[in-house]
Amino acid sequence: MASNRLSEEAEGASPSPVTVPHAKVAGIIPLLPLETRWPSVTRDPSPLRQYNGFWIPEMILKGGFTAVHSCFEPRPSDVFLSSFPKSGTTWLKALAFAALKRSTHPPFEGDHPLRHWNPHDCVKFFELDLSAGEFEALPSPRVVATHLPYSLLPDSITREGSGCRIVYVCRDPRDALVSFWLFMRKVSPSFTIQEAFDLFCQGRCTGGPQWLHVLQYWEASVRRPDSVLFLRYEEMLREPESHLKKLAEFMGCGFSKEEEEAGVVSAIVELCSLGKLKEMEVNRNGVNNWGTKNETFFRKGVAGDWSNHMTPEMAQRLDRIVEDALQGTGFTFATSA
Ligand code: A3P
Repeated sequence: MASNRLSEEAEGASPSPVTVPHAKVAGIIPLLPLETRWPSVTRDPSPLRQYNGFWIPEMILKGGFTAVHSCFEPRPSDVFLSSFPKSGTTWLKALAFAALKRSTHPPFEGDHPLRHWNPHDCVKFFELDLSAGEFEALPSPRVVATHLPYSLLPDSITREGSGCRIVYVCRDPRDALVSFWLFMRKVSPSFTIQEAFDLFCQGRCTGGPQWLHVLQYWEASVRRPDSVLFLRYEEMLREPESHLKKLAEFMGCGFSKEEEEAGVVSAIVELCSLGKLKEMEVNRNGVNNWGTKNETFFRKGVAGDWSNHMTPEMAQRLDRIVEDALQGTGFTFATSA
């Protein structure tokens, strides 16, 4: 795998100085490279630590990550929704949840859970929100989310024959950066675009380097297309219905002709649209269990907004770093218009 390729400027994926089984990482945290300049989204500050080439919140490594690797037991019917932060996770959660639960909660239903709960309450992050007991108690087919890089997922999920399915949503790094910066500014108002940009370019942000996070999942989707579905946010925006159908098919709950004729697909797309979710009371005034206002997950939801916040020079610099890092891998962020 070419995942350790980096340009000289971005040094996010250099190896950690010490190697231990993932379940034992808590014991070596003080030895891992430290980054304190990227703000934390949670109530308690949590610096980042570089582990196996990625910058992960210390709090996750100490808590959920260790639990996931020591006592979480996946089932073959599990679906994992994966993403780098600010890449369309909330949307993917809403779509997957609405598709999987449509027999009990038809999208036309006036009190559909997505009308009362934020998508992050419907689909939890397994390394952040769930104890092993809560994960165990979820009814099958379980759908949970993760921001962990592919290489940091438990082998019990990624190994051949696990039966688990992974859906990844990828976004243009420039838009992911701008979305991340604006999101972080809500909790840390003095955080400037220049600071965010410099750290992002070095891979020094939660889950970074972003392009290596994406690359690992893309490579996995090429190797194991039946187990890993790779989606692009920009393409989903262009053709939401065809992507929802693909997603449902992949999760093992494809839409029947009758459902399509009855408008179920378009009703789910509508229910999960940014406009609809944004106007729901829970998403206007609710707060999630990390203390973040639900409204912060819904902003513009377009492709190309980076150009309103980054200079052309910044964009070129990031493009060069990403291009260098991806050279020879076969992956590119460019999508056909
Ligand atoms: P912008 O900040 O560019 O608007 P995540 O869910 O991974 O945190 O990503 C957040 C980004 O997805 C934000 O992008 C947000 O506006 C956008 N988003 C949230 N819900 C969406 C939806 N239902 N449809 C499309 N985009 C959505």
